Amino acid sequence: MCSSDLIDSSMKTYRVAVAGATGAVGVEFLRLLEERKFPMSSLKLLASARSAGKTMKYAGRDIVVDELKDDSFNDVDIAFFSAGGSISRQYGPIAAKAGAVVVDNSSAFRMDPNVPLVIPEINPEACEAHKGIIANPNCSTIIAITPLWPIHKVNPIRRLIAATYQAASGAGAAAMAELEESTRAYLENRPYEQKVLPHAYAFNLFSHNTKIDPATGYNEEETKMVKETKKIFGDPDIRLSATCVRVPVLRAHSEALTIECERPIGPAEVRKLLDGAPGVKIVDDIEKNYFPMPKDASGKDDVLVGRIRKDASDPSGKSIAMFVAGDQLLKGAALNAVQIAEVLVEKGWVHGA
Ligand code: A2P
Repeated sequence: MCSSDLIDSSMKTYRVAVAGATGAVGVEFLRLLEERKFPMSSLKLLASARSAGKTMKYAGRDIVVDELKDDSFNDVDIAFFSAGGSISRQYGPIAAKAGAVVVDNSSAFRMDPNVPLVIPEINPEACEAHKGIIANPNCSTIIAITPLWPIHKVNPIRRLIAATYQAASGAGAAAMAELEESTRAYLENRPYEQKVLPHAYAFNLFSHNTKIDPATGYNEEETKMVKETKKIFGDPDIRLSATCVRVPVLRAHSEALTIECERPIGPAEVRKLLDGAPGVKIVDDIEKNYFPMPKDASGKDDVLVGRIRKDASDPSGKSIAMFVAGDQLLKGAALNAVQIAEVLVEKGWVHGA
């Protein structure tokens, strides 16, 4: 694909690769790059050998998927990775060494002190210090803290308690298919053998399918939320606890959040702070009992926020409870990563031609 096909020739353009292009997040990368008119001169689609030779549509034309290999990044400026942690660990440094800036959706590098961990609405300036790799945060972290940042900026959050209701998409395209197939089997009274997720998924829910650390009792997803929030907010003192649960929803995570701020704060002030905040939309219709739902968050860029109320268990008046829902594949993954690349382009923190 040549540059004149893709973009106005007067603009600076970038050679882009998507590693994991055939996955649930990969497909969203393609759609977002097109929809947001990302200034590309070329687009390389990479996946496993299983997918090599397949074609995927970009801007109405077919692009052939290549097998991800060591030399895949020799002619790439920006590489989006969403093919799992082990692929990122193996190929991320190779891509960075070849001169690409890697925006990595896995957990492989998130807590590396040399790797910025970025939500563009919160800490875009952290991108500047990149050494070839920038990490996209965990989806539950992004969806929880994008709407908390406008509050934290004016009245620092000292404590956060989160309970998540997480969709199948976080475990990939195969888990989404498993939810659909197992639901069909359940309704048709057929037996179904789980292949991707560890427990029956149709009409059920279960504690997040990551390993529990016996020393703390927290699973990996919960630990990610705790550590990543501290790093992104640049606040090691914020106290957090999370309970992460997988629910039978296809692609949007919901979360119940309770925050305790440094000073007293009321629901009206929270609504004012969140009204019009970037990446956030208030859905809080008490009369109609209409609040954030995964159905409404799916396919949308914004994190929906509602049920904003005083936490009745804290008489100091410093605590607020709320409920949020955000598209796991978009703001929780591909959209946040593309926004990071847009920061790089806008600030000139990536080489292009
Ligand atoms: P493939 O479709 O060829 O298996 P998801 O998160 O939806 O499960 O998607 C995972 C993505 O990671 C897919 O694009 C998948 O490609 C890709 N992937 C998995 N294993 C490898 C591998 N060994 N090398 C390159 N890409 C891989």
